[in-house]
Amino acid sequence: MRTSLALLATATLSPFATALKVLSSTGDSAFAFALANATYYSPATAVASGCFGNTGSCTTPDLLPLTVLATNATTITAEALAAVVSMYASIDDVWSEAFLENGALFLANSANATLDSSAASWMNSYGIKYLLVTERLDVSGYNSSSTTVIHVPSSWDLQPGPYTFSFDPAGNAAICQAYALHRDNYEAFLFGVTAVPNTTAYAPVGLFIPSYQDAWIPVPSRLYSLGDSRPLAGIRVALKDIYDLEGVQTGGGSRSYAEVYPVANATAVSMQKMLDLGVVIVGKTKTSQFAHGADPYQFIDIHYPWNPRGDGYLTAASSSSGSAAAIAGYDWIDMSIGSDTRGSVRKPAALVGSYGIRPTWQSMNLTGVIPLATEMDTAGFFVRDPELFLTVAGLWYEGSAVPVNTSFTSLPSTVLYPVDYFPLNNSAAQAVFDTFLDTLEEEFGMTRRTINISATLSAAQSLSPGITNATSFQLSSNRLAEYVSYHEVGIPLIEAWNATFPGAGYPPLDPNPRAAFARSMNLTEEDYEDAMSIKNEFRDYFLANILRPDPETCSESIMILDMGTGGLPSYREQALNARAGATSLTVTQVPGGGPSVPSNYLASTAGCPEVGIPIGQVAYDSFISLQEEYIPINVDMVAAPGCDGMLLEIVRRLTELGVAKEVKTGRTAF
Ligand SMILES: *[C@@H]1O[C@H](CO)[C@@H](O)[C@H](O)[C@H]1NC(C)=O
Ligand SMILES: *[C@@H]1O[C@H](CO)[C@@H](O)[C@H](O)[C@H]1NC(C)=O
Ligand SMILES: *[C@@H]1O[C@H](CO)[C@@H](O)[C@H](O)[C@H]1NC(C)=O
Ligand SMILES: *[C@@H]1O[C@H](CO)[C@@H](O)[C@H](O)[C@H]1NC(C)=O
Ligand SMILES: *[C@@H]1O[C@H](CO)[C@@H](O)[C@H](O)[C@H]1NC(C)=O
Ligand SMILES: *[C@@H]1O[C@H](CO)[C@@H](O)[C@H](O)[C@H]1NC(C)=O
Ligand SMILES: *[C@@H]1O[C@H](CO)[C@@H](O)[C@H](O)[C@H]1NC(C)=O
Ligand SMILES: *[C@@H]1O[C@H](CO)[C@@H](O)[C@H](O)[C@H]1NC(C)=O
Ligand SMILES: *[C@@H]1O[C@H](CO)[C@@H](O)[C@H](O)[C@H]1NC(C)=O
Ligand SMILES: *[C@@H]1O[C@H](CO)[C@@H](O)[C@H](O)[C@H]1NC(C)=O
Ligand SMILES: *[C@@H]1O[C@H](CO)[C@@H](O)[C@H](O)[C@H]1NC(C)=O
Ligand SMILES: *[C@@H]1O[C@H](CO)[C@@H](O)[C@H](O)[C@H]1NC(C)=O
Repeated sequence: MRTSLALLATATLSPFATALKVLSSTGDSAFAFALANATYYSPATAVASGCFGNTGSCTTPDLLPLTVLATNATTITAEALAAVVSMYASIDDVWSEAFLENGALFLANSANATLDSSAASWMNSYGIKYLLVTERLDVSGYNSSSTTVIHVPSSWDLQPGPYTFSFDPAGNAAICQAYALHRDNYEAFLFGVTAVPNTTAYAPVGLFIPSYQDAWIPVPSRLYSLGDSRPLAGIRVALKDIYDLEGVQTGGGSRSYAEVYPVANATAVSMQKMLDLGVVIVGKTKTSQFAHGADPYQFIDIHYPWNPRGDGYLTAASSSSGSAAAIAGYDWIDMSIGSDTRGSVRKPAALVGSYGIRPTWQSMNLTGVIPLATEMDTAGFFVRDPELFLTVAGLWYEGSAVPVNTSFTSLPSTVLYPVDYFPLNNSAAQAVFDTFLDTLEEEFGMTRRTINISATLSAAQSLSPGITNATSFQLSSNRLAEYVSYHEVGIPLIEAWNATFPGAGYPPLDPNPRAAFARSMNLTEEDYEDAMSIKNEFRDYFLANILRPDPETCSESIMILDMGTGGLPSYREQALNARAGATSLTVTQVPGGGPSVPSNYLASTAGCPEVGIPIGQVAYDSFISLQEEYIPINVDMVAAPGCDGMLLEIVRRLTELGVAKEVKTGRTAF
């Protein structure tokens, strides 16, 4: 059954598509459409347009699917066309043959080729209505009464793939990209975005499913990056909403913030670097407010994303939870971007079972990112594929202000095993870690050395009580974030809110930033300096006594950690976490009130790199689905600052050993 592209207003659409509402803020010519079984989006700005008033046959406006098909064959036969089409179908999940049926075809990149007569019957079999060619293609052998041949300028240098083609009665043609629309059923995103052709800007896509508030996310064809030799060409990325993206509103998880600030006029430096490497951004993901720690039930302004794993009602931890939910939920994206101040990449990665990294502090320029604690903020990312993990980490942090690839001639021979966090409460999860430790011992020749971090700190006579007292240490660590966040984000927002809405009072805030800003009002710069000196004292002690740099191995040892779950499920509903068999994952307090520094604080305080990798899963009895479900288990590895490359080398070897594997999307990681 042949299907033709149709406009929403006139088409008989699939049940899904009828839920669409066109709301694009980029212009009134953007639209969603259904084709065969799928839903697509055509943005407002054309990639090519022109006037072809000589086409005669164009008596009614036409709106068709269009395929740009590139071949270098000098004689274009049916066989050559079929081969290209089959290659497209095999590498792309957006374009389908439905784009050819009763549609338009643009034969591109033909080097002074001739169209063979066999091509005509191939095109007729699809009912091609318009054939677009440049002057270089000889179409004299083409004979079809049902096709209009249009000669377009050779400057129409379009990438292969799916497009929409509109042709008005005056002969004006426009070609727009066609994106696959995917429903964001885990509510990981705020909205989708598309790159605006011929600019450095992106445009938001205002398409939502009314019954669920879910966004439709536009996904570009992989064919658009065919022939793009940049190392990350076409990698699809979800971006945390604390990063500026030119042309798009930054919200930072706050309605007030989005309300008073203009749309970003520049892309964050770190993201521009990603874009220059070839990635495409598909949407903005949810964050806790200004990246402050928050549990799911403390999200007030926006609805907390759904963790795809297990029963679907577990937490994905805090501020990068949207990015984590997206990578664990959707095989139509390859990577998502988060940020890590005190665990916001490592914890969500552990809770969704994805690869995640906190690089050495200061390894990324964070201009254009909402700051939290400048002394600890880093840019990290999530992926499912260990190969991509290594590629992106190698490229993104390269050339940073601090060395992230300090040389090493061999790998560390010691793995530190902190009894502050091990053994885990769930013995099945502990067994997963034990197996991993066996691998480090057997395959890497490492020796396990038990360490008690809190006892070590307490025994150190020289350390100030601000470090040996874990509660006090936590409070001063909090101050680093509270002071910076209040001064860099809070005060400007409070002022902008007052200026925009005179008489409206204080801007509404989520509980944690509200409390943090209230505390910060009484903090002096001296308090901040004190907190910083505690942090630096901890760092210096930690790097001199626990995780020492080493000239041969970069880091004398690596330390393994879990991210605070103990291998138990933690629910998005607070009350369930008090039950036996579950755990709370509170980000603002020491677990159980002490006695140790939370595991995620170590790297943050000492400026260390840390990688999290999924190594297994364990069963639990769900309070939600009332059946057995699985949660993923991540192991985290920490090394001395600058040893990112060494940690990645360990991950590379684990990949070779088959220990580090690609994880799946959906209910289980494996
Ligand atoms: C429509 O869906 C069916 C079943 O999911 C699939 O086999 C078929 O290839 C799809 N058609 C198109 C044009 O995508
Ligand atoms: C985009 O840029 C290309 C190359 O510079 C140009 O040929 C094309 O006309 C431009 N398209 C639009 C819509 O401006
Ligand atoms: C056509 O040739 C160019 C230049 O040799 C090459 O870059 C491109 O990949 C080729 N395209 C196809 C579809 O083979
Ligand atoms: C195509 O033909 C033009 C004009 O004859 C010539 O200048 C050009 O080099 C040819 N291109 C190729 C790729 O053969
Ligand atoms: C084109 O095809 C039609 C019908 O198949 C045929 O009658 C006609 O002679 C053909 N014209 C040319 C120029 O080959
Ligand atoms: C971009 O926005 C910033 C902050 O609002 C402003 O200071 C700057 O002048 C703007 N830059 C341009 C090029 O418009
Ligand atoms: C980050 O990039 C901005 C813009 O290019 C630049 O002004 C700033 O100095 C850079 N910051 C660092 C720490 O390199
Ligand atoms: C470190 O250096 C190695 C060898 O040059 C390279 O393959 C790797 O990608 C680098 N890693 C980082 C994080 O820069
Ligand atoms: C640790 O610090 C907290 C907060 O400053 C304080 O309330 C508590 O008494 C201290 N504990 C000890 C044992 O000194
Ligand atoms: C709000 O703005 C008004 C007018 O500029 C000013 O008088 C008032 O002090 C401001 N309030 C706050 C809380 O900043
Ligand atoms: C800040 O100081 C004021 C005045 O001294 C006091 O009323 C208020 O309770 C303090 N706020 C906090 C959060 O400690
Ligand atoms: C693990 O078990 C111990 C002892 O039962 C308990 O004190 C602690 O709070 C538990 N930890 C978690 C994360 O549930």
